[in-house]
Amino acid sequence: MHRLVCIHCGAEYPADEVIYHCRRCSHLLAVQYDLDSITIAPGVWERRPISVWRYRELLPVSSAPVTLWEGGTPLYHLKQLGEEIGVRALYAKHEGMNPTGSFKDRGMTVGVSMALQLGMKSVACASTGNTSASLAAYAAKAGIPAVVLLPAGNVALGKVAQALMHGARVISIRNNFDKALELVHELCLSQGIYFLNSVNPYRLEGQKTIGFEVIDQLGGEVPDRMVLPVGNAGNISAVHKGLRELETMGRIDRLPMMTGIQAEGSRPVVDAIQRGLPEVIPEPSPETVATAIRIGAPVNAEKALTAIRATGGTAEFVTDDEILAMQRDLARKEGIGVEPASAASVAGVKKLVGEGMIDRDERIVCVVTGHLLKDPETVVRQCEAPAEIDADLQSLLSALQ
Ligand code: F0G
Repeated sequence: MHRLVCIHCGAEYPADEVIYHCRRCSHLLAVQYDLDSITIAPGVWERRPISVWRYRELLPVSSAPVTLWEGGTPLYHLKQLGEEIGVRALYAKHEGMNPTGSFKDRGMTVGVSMALQLGMKSVACASTGNTSASLAAYAAKAGIPAVVLLPAGNVALGKVAQALMHGARVISIRNNFDKALELVHELCLSQGIYFLNSVNPYRLEGQKTIGFEVIDQLGGEVPDRMVLPVGNAGNISAVHKGLRELETMGRIDRLPMMTGIQAEGSRPVVDAIQRGLPEVIPEPSPETVATAIRIGAPVNAEKALTAIRATGGTAEFVTDDEILAMQRDLARKEGIGVEPASAASVAGVKKLVGEGMIDRDERIVCVVTGHLLKDPETVVRQCEAPAEIDADLQSLLSALQ
C-alpha cells in the first residue's frame, strides 16, 4: 500500500489521485509506502534478474508493467581513470545501457505503467531529449499517444531521432527547457493528459532503483558517495529516496553522501549548496555543451537540496571543457561511451579530489546517465574526421604513417 505525501506540509493524497503538487502549499509530492508492512524474504530479490522490476515490492505498480527490460545496467570499476584521479575504488553505473540509452527508462516503465493503472489515455513531457526519447518508446509499447515538447535547437540529434521514430508528436518551442516544462504542465492540466516529467512522483519511483542495483552489485555494501549529474534534480532525489527506504527497512545501515554535479553555465543547485541558500535561485539563461542538463530552474530542487544536505554530500560545477575531456577519457581509457552530461559526474569527482573535498579512500559510484550515441554531433565536433583515401595499400600505409 502507498499514498502520496507532500514533502513540505505532509498533506496526504490517495494513491490513485492524478495530482502533481500539494493542493494546500503547492510543494512536491512523494510516494510513501507502509514500509513496516512490507516484508521481502531473504534471497527473494537476489533470485530475480537484476532490473527495475526486481524491486517491485517498493514500486507502486500493481498490474503487469509496461516494460522493455530496463535497468540491470553494468557497474564498471574505473581502474585506469581511478588511478589517474587518485581514487582507487571509483565506479561508473552505465545508465546508457538501458533500452533507449538513458536512465529515463527506469522512470518511464513505472510512469507509463501508472498512466495505464490510473486510466489515463495519453501522456506528455517536456524534455532536453532523453525523457522524450524514453516516453515515446514506452508510450509506443503501451499503445497510447505521446506529446513531447523540446527546446528548439538544443536537443541532441539521437534523442530527437528516437522521439520521432517511436511515433511521438514532437513539438519544438522557440524557448528553453524551463519554458517548455511550464507549457506542457499547463497542457496536461487543461487537457487531462498524464504529465510524465520528474515532478510526477511515480516516475521517480522507477529511477530510485539505480541505488538499489548499486547496493546489490557491490554485494550489499553501501558506497561512501554517489555522484550524479544534475539537471532538473529528479534523479539525485530519487536515488536518495530509495536508499532511505532501504535504510528504514534495515537492509542498509547508512547512506552514501549524495553529490550533484552541474555545468558551469547552469548551476543553480551548486550555488544554493555552496552559499547555503534555503532554495535555488533560477538561472534565466542556462548554457552548456551538455544540453541534457541545460536547465535553469530545476523543479526538484527542494528534494535535491535535502538529499545532498541530509547525507553530508556536496555539489560542484564543471566547465564544458572539463566535461568534454572526461567524455573522451571515459571513451578512450575505459571503453565507456557516454554523452556529455554523463561525463559531468566523473569530471566532478576529479575536480573535488583536486580540491581536497573528496577523500581518496572513498568508494565512489558515479552515475553516467546517457549513451555516447545520443549526441553524435558533439562527438564529431571533438574528433578528427576519418581520413579518406584511395583504395590501395600504398595510400593506406601512408595514411597510417
Ligand atoms: N543526464 C542526462 C543524460 C539527462 O538526460 C538528464 C536529464 C540528467 C543527467 C539530469 O537528470 O534532470 O533528474 O537531474 N534529462 C532530462 C530530459 C531533463 O528531459 O531528458 P535530472
